[in-house]
Amino acid sequence: MIKSTLIKAVEAGAKVMQDYFQKEFKISNKEGVNNLVTEADHASEKAIFEVIKNDYPDHFILSEEAGEIATDSSFKWIVDPIDGTVNFAHGIPICCVSIGIEQDGEIIMGAVYNPFINEFYFAQKGFGATLNDKIIKVSDETEVSKACLVTGFPYTYLDQPNGPLEVFSRLIRKGVPVRRLGSAAMDLCWVAAGRFDGFYEHKLQAWDSAAGFLIVEEAGGRASDFTGGKYSPHQHHIVATNGKIHEELLKWVNDEVV
Ligand code: IPD
Ligand code: CA
Ligand code: CA
Repeated sequence: MIKSTLIKAVEAGAKVMQDYFQKEFKISNKEGVNNLVTEADHASEKAIFEVIKNDYPDHFILSEEAGEIATDSSFKWIVDPIDGTVNFAHGIPICCVSIGIEQDGEIIMGAVYNPFINEFYFAQKGFGATLNDKIIKVSDETEVSKACLVTGFPYTYLDQPNGPLEVFSRLIRKGVPVRRLGSAAMDLCWVAAGRFDGFYEHKLQAWDSAAGFLIVEEAGGRASDFTGGKYSPHQHHIVATNGKIHEELLKWVNDEVV
């Protein structure tokens, strides 16, 4: 039952994205240059909430634009109504709806849907990960020097020592391809699908990664914070890989490569 509600919710948000895509809509700025929010983000969030509240009126919801709808339920829906809003606002079809479900502090299920390229990713803890209902697995690459990586940059906080620009520069200077798609949820799903070997980012929020990190883990990969510790979407750092390059990528991120 909760799975079908999750699927309905993600589809409802994606339908709104399709309705607004490449049309005129209102765009406003949040904190930081080009940190956008559009009418479509709010409309997608509203459509998602309607589905969740209809089936589970007492569940807790944490969502990017609305914040917390707090209840004392042990279930928390963690919602990004559009991940990749800057892409969306420019008509770039690398954007999606992302919803993770937490139960007693553990993410148990997640779905990410990009309707523009028709990719629906789903994972349930302990039951594997799928893309459009087909099982997916992470890649087999074992060395960072041969890997294809992806990262993202926050709207602020770029120049800290060992921050996003320094780590990026370190990898690029060694000739490692590091892409930047602009949607953390898509980045994670593409690691899960074996297209990228690894992903790292310095300042994610819970809604960016709650679904995607579980999809990576259930596809046989690994997600952690920058110390290699168990991943929680409620802290900012993430390294998510095929597992085989994980320890090495942690060294690159932490400036420990000799
Ligand atoms: C952003 C995207 C981007 C990441 C940013 C996020 P939004 O989410 O996931 O890839 O680099 O840190 O804020 O604002 O498009 O939902
Ligand atoms: Ca996001
Ligand atoms: Ca968003």
